[in-house]
Amino acid sequence: MSGGTRPPELSAHGGNGRPATSGGTGRPAGDGGAGRLEVADVVKAFGANRAVDGVSFVAEAGRITGLIGPNGAGKTTLFNAVAGEYPLDAGSVRLDGEQIGSLPPYRVFSHGLARTFQIPRPFGGMTVLENVMCVPERQAGERFWNSWLRPGLVAREERRNMERAREIIEFCGLTKVERQLAGAISGGQQKLVELARALMADPKIVLLDEPGAGVNPALLDTIVDRIVELNKRGLSFLIIEHNMDFIMSLCDHIVVMATGRVIAEGEPDTVIADPQVIDAYLGGAIQ
Ligand SMILES: Nc1ncnc2c1ncn2[C@@H]1O[C@H](COP(=O)(O)OP(=O)(O)O)[C@@H](O)[C@H]1O
Ligand SMILES: [Mg+2]
Repeated sequence: MSGGTRPPELSAHGGNGRPATSGGTGRPAGDGGAGRLEVADVVKAFGANRAVDGVSFVAEAGRITGLIGPNGAGKTTLFNAVAGEYPLDAGSVRLDGEQIGSLPPYRVFSHGLARTFQIPRPFGGMTVLENVMCVPERQAGERFWNSWLRPGLVAREERRNMERAREIIEFCGLTKVERQLAGAISGGQQKLVELARALMADPKIVLLDEPGAGVNPALLDTIVDRIVELNKRGLSFLIIEHNMDFIMSLCDHIVVMATGRVIAEGEPDTVIADPQVIDAYLGGAIQ
């Protein structure tokens, strides 16, 4: 292959039947490939506040699904519940049919679900490269023994890890800042570092919490562009975002939450014309 910045290699996830996208024509949405996230009747309460109050939807494999809704709707709480930060009070979450609800974050992660945070959380005292390199491998396990028994192998793996990190950093447009401390770069660049860290895990689906918030327009274009490119390669996304241009241009399917519940879902054009959705956003502020 040649030309342009190619996405880093994403593995075929054990040959589970994800078809390759053909020459950039269309997305393999809903094809039964990898990254299908099924949220069913999920409840997460903080005391009496049912922040997520019986939420069900499916983020289909190969799709970019948008999760929108006014502040306080429960979107971030849902992300946290799905990613294992909180045990579920009720309901289930399945990734490609496997139950991941209430697993701890590292187990959810090792099933192939990576997420970024609304407020980026880089290790500020480490460089961008170090931040990306230190993401644990999803297929960990043998490493401890390897380090005793086969030091040459470990050195080779570390070199490969660094090469992969640098490839992903380049893909995310961060090469110029890879030696800078992650705490010293712009908020938008930090969001890209989070995306890079998520990609290191070779995930099936990536959950992005407000990737566009506080990001300058040029960097926002880069983020959009990278998401499209990765999606063409079959990576699924679930994205919380307030910027409607961003949502409308990227998403195949939108889920709308308000006060802990799903109030509408469907194709973007239909959903934003839904009176209930407009109502939830206080009389048309969504536009
Ligand atoms: N850690 C927490 N402890 C207590 N209440 C919380 C916590 N996180 C969120 N909430 C409450 O849950 C509700 C949903 O918040 P959140 O999920 O952040 O909404 P959104 O991301 O849609 O803006 C809000 O009422 C918020 O105050
Ligand atoms: Mg939020």
